[in-house]
Amino acid sequence: MPKNPLKILILFYSFTGTVAELAKYVADGASKVANVEVSIKRVPELLPDEFFKGKDPLLKIRKDLESKYPVATKEDLIEADGIAFGTPTHFGSFAAQLKEFIDQLSGEWLQGKLVNKPAAVFCAAGTTHGGEELTLLSTMIPLLNLGMLPVGIPYPVQGEGNGFDAGSPYGAVYVTGGGRKLSEADQKVARILGTRLATMAAILNCGCDHCNFCHDLNKKVE
Ligand SMILES: Cc1cc2nc3c(=O)[nH]c(=O)nc-3n(C[C@H](O)[C@H](O)[C@H](O)COP(=O)(O)O)c2cc1C
Repeated sequence: MPKNPLKILILFYSFTGTVAELAKYVADGASKVANVEVSIKRVPELLPDEFFKGKDPLLKIRKDLESKYPVATKEDLIEADGIAFGTPTHFGSFAAQLKEFIDQLSGEWLQGKLVNKPAAVFCAAGTTHGGEELTLLSTMIPLLNLGMLPVGIPYPVQGEGNGFDAGSPYGAVYVTGGGRKLSEADQKVARILGTRLATMAAILNCGCDHCNFCHDLNKKVE
């Protein structure tokens, strides 16, 4: 029998709040799939309190994120049937805060606790060519090491015209420079990513007695 409800975790780091905004749309997309419970959680901030001294706007964002989103635990990841990982682009790659969280999963890696869970990635970057695709792909590297199954967004689900430029095959993207607002096309792509992630989680946990694929897949984890 399928697990009911399936758990989808949207896990992110955000420094100035834009990844947190994108996370909501990924979560919205995931919640459109039947029998799915979606939670949005963050990884801990690593920057020390001194860093925020005299930086009131940044401190306000930090406090706001802390009040809205609980910190995820390893158990949250183990219990999840699918996970979306969100990060800002920091110097062309994913944020150290997310890396540090993932680097604590060596025990879970050894035990194969995340094997065969679908994973999706999303990011915010300042500029179009500032490294968002590198960020998405570099985030996927440790997830593949953990045995997770990548879920992307194949063209042309973005749509036509301006919408075609939104997101990327590798994940959802929000280019934020110059105070750019999240476009409807970006929102749509983020939702599609969440829906695809949750759908894949449902397929992998279908529990039906017809094809046995999911039973076989799960057997290899043991
Ligand atoms: C330390 C640092 C490094 C950054 N490096 C890049 C970069 O390499 N390319 C880019 O396009 N934007 C870069 N940015 C901008 C952020 O990716 C962008 O502002 C993003 O929207 C931040 O997401 P957040 O609001 O969730 O923190 C950087 C920002 C910071 C603070």
